[in-house]
Amino acid sequence: MEIKPEIAERIIKLEEKFKNSGQDMGSYLDGLLYDRYLSYWDYIEVDTLLSLQKTNTHFPDEMIFITYHQITELYFKLIIHEQKQIIESATLTASFFTEKLNRINRYFRILIDSFDVMIKGMEREQFLKFRMALLPASGFQSAQFRMIELYSTPLENLVSAEIRNDFSEKTSIDELYENIYWKKGGIDLETGEKTLTLKQFEKRYTPRFLRIANAVYENTIYHRYLKMHEDDRNDKDLVKAMRNLDVNVNINWLLMHMGAAYRYLSKDKETVKATGGTNWKKFLPPSFQRISFFPDLWSKEEKENWGKQWVNHTFNTENKK
Ligand code: HEM
Repeated sequence: MEIKPEIAERIIKLEEKFKNSGQDMGSYLDGLLYDRYLSYWDYIEVDTLLSLQKTNTHFPDEMIFITYHQITELYFKLIIHEQKQIIESATLTASFFTEKLNRINRYFRILIDSFDVMIKGMEREQFLKFRMALLPASGFQSAQFRMIELYSTPLENLVSAEIRNDFSEKTSIDELYENIYWKKGGIDLETGEKTLTLKQFEKRYTPRFLRIANAVYENTIYHRYLKMHEDDRNDKDLVKAMRNLDVNVNINWLLMHMGAAYRYLSKDKETVKATGGTNWKKFLPPSFQRISFFPDLWSKEEKENWGKQWVNHTFNTENKK
C-alpha cells in the first residue's frame, strides 16, 4: 500500500512528537481509530448546560431570572479571563492592553444593553412571589463580580467612600478588606448586624478574596497601567479604554441594575425589602458608592459628579409616578 508523501511527512512529525515525550505512537494511532467524531453537542456540553437552570418555584418567569444570571456569570468569566492576561503579561504593550480592555468593554456593553431582559422581561407580580423562595440569596453574593473589582484596582480604592481617605496603600490588606465598601451594604439597618447574606458570602469566599488581593498586590490592572512608560500611559486609545471600563462597571452596569431594583422593589414611596436585606436605595447608586477603579484618570469635577446625573433623573421620574 502506498502512503502519500504529505501523510508520510505528518507521520514522521508525529513520531518525533511522541518520541520526545516518551510515548508510543502506535497506541495514540489506535486511539484515533476508535475515537468517536466530535459533535457540537459534546463539545459545547449542551445537555449539561441546559440542565443547570433549576428553578425553585413553578412561576414561569423564574426561568428568565436564573438563566440571565447564569449568562451574566459566563460573561464575568470571560472578563476575568482577559483581566488575568493583562496582569500576567510579562511584556505589556499599550496595544495589547487596549485590545484586552476593549474586549472587556464589549462584554460589559452586552451586559448593560441586555439588562432590560431583567427590567422589562418579567412580570412584576411573579417576581415578587418567586423571590421569596430565593431568600437570602442575592446577586450581592456574585463572587466573580467582586473578583473583577479585585483584579482591577488596589483595595484602598474599594474601601467605603466615607472612610476611604483614612486609609492608604500602607494599610494592611486584611484591614483594607475589612472595610471594603460592599460589607457596609450587607449591614441590616434595623439591627446593625451583618445580614445572613453577607455572613454566608464571607464564610464561603473570604479566604479566596484575600488570596487574590495578596496575589495582585501592586499588580492590579491599575498598577500595570501606572507602571507603564509615560508615552504608553498617554496613549489615547488606552486611556479611553480604561475610562470606558471604569464607567461601564461602576456607573453604567450599576445604573441598569438599579433600574431593575426600582422596577421590582419600589412602589410609590415604599421600598420593598431586598432579598439580601440591604437598604439598596442607599447602597446601590454609583453616586453613593463612588467606586472608581482608576481615579487618576478623572478630573476632580468628574469625580465629584460620579454617577449623579442618572440618579437625580431616576429619583425624579420615580417620584412623579
Ligand atoms: C430583577 C433583577 C434584579 C434585582 C431586582 C436585583 C436587586 C438587587 C439588590 C436589591 C441588591 C442589593 C443587595 C441585596 O440586598 O440583595 C443587588 C445587588 C447585586 N446584584 Fe442584583 N438584582 C437583579 C439582578 C441581578 C443580576 C442579573 C445580576 C448579575 C449577576 C445581579 C448582580 C448583583 C450584584 C453584583 C450586586 C452587588 C452590587 C454592588 O455591590 O454594588 N443582580 N441586586
